[in-house]
Amino acid sequence: MFISFEGIDGSGKSTQIKLLQEKLESFGKTVVSLREPGGTELSEKIRELLLHKDYDLNSETELLLFESARAYLTNTIIIPSLQSGKVVLTDRFFDSTIAYQGYGRGLDLDFIDKCNLFATQGIEPDITFYLKINMNTSNERRIMNTKDRIEKSGLEFYQKVISGFDNIAINNPKRVVTINAENSISTIHDEIMEIVNKMMVLKQN
Ligand code: ADP
Ligand code: TYD
Repeated sequence: MFISFEGIDGSGKSTQIKLLQEKLESFGKTVVSLREPGGTELSEKIRELLLHKDYDLNSETELLLFESARAYLTNTIIIPSLQSGKVVLTDRFFDSTIAYQGYGRGLDLDFIDKCNLFATQGIEPDITFYLKINMNTSNERRIMNTKDRIEKSGLEFYQKVISGFDNIAINNPKRVVTINAENSISTIHDEIMEIVNKMMVLKQN
């Protein structure tokens, strides 16, 4: 089973992944929890290049670095883990590239789809939880963090990213579940568990 979490920074993805991982492990599942960009030594190095404030990367370079990190993670961890029956949870996957580099930076959406397909070898999450929050909530929740390069992109960029995620959810109604992530951590976790429990029953039959 492959589950991705999407949403703007501070939407609660890491918090919910941790809770879901604990719950699934208590059911006896083996869970691999990953973040993008990252998840392998090489992909973490690409992450440093991408998020470092000192590099003034153009959008094309940014796109290709995200896709490189994804291609390596998919090939070395995600595909083998799924083949051996593990549950894979990812903090972001290809939807983030559509939202940030496509809607946010304005790169061609069809080209991004092709890059995503190339990097993932056609692997898709069984389900994607889109944790939807507004910009004020994102700013409040991230008040203690120093901003990385992408987080410095400004309000207008983030509004485009949010509408990007909204469109992705509309265009992929079978895969993407939108969750009101303004709610409490436990309410969101319960909502996610209800859906994951149903999926686990379906997978057993
Ligand atoms: P993300 O991984 O999406 O950037 P985090 O899970 O790191 O988000 O959450 C960002 C901050 O917001 C953390 O301090 C976390 O404890 C807090 N947080 C997460 N979910 C909620 C929630 N539903 N309500 C209030 N605070 C939350
Ligand atoms: P991260 O700290 O993992 O996100 P969060 O703050 O939500 O925990 O930072 C990853 C950053 O990279 C985040 O700003 C989103 C951005 N990103 C893209 O622009 N495109 C992508 O394809 C991915 C995976 C991430």
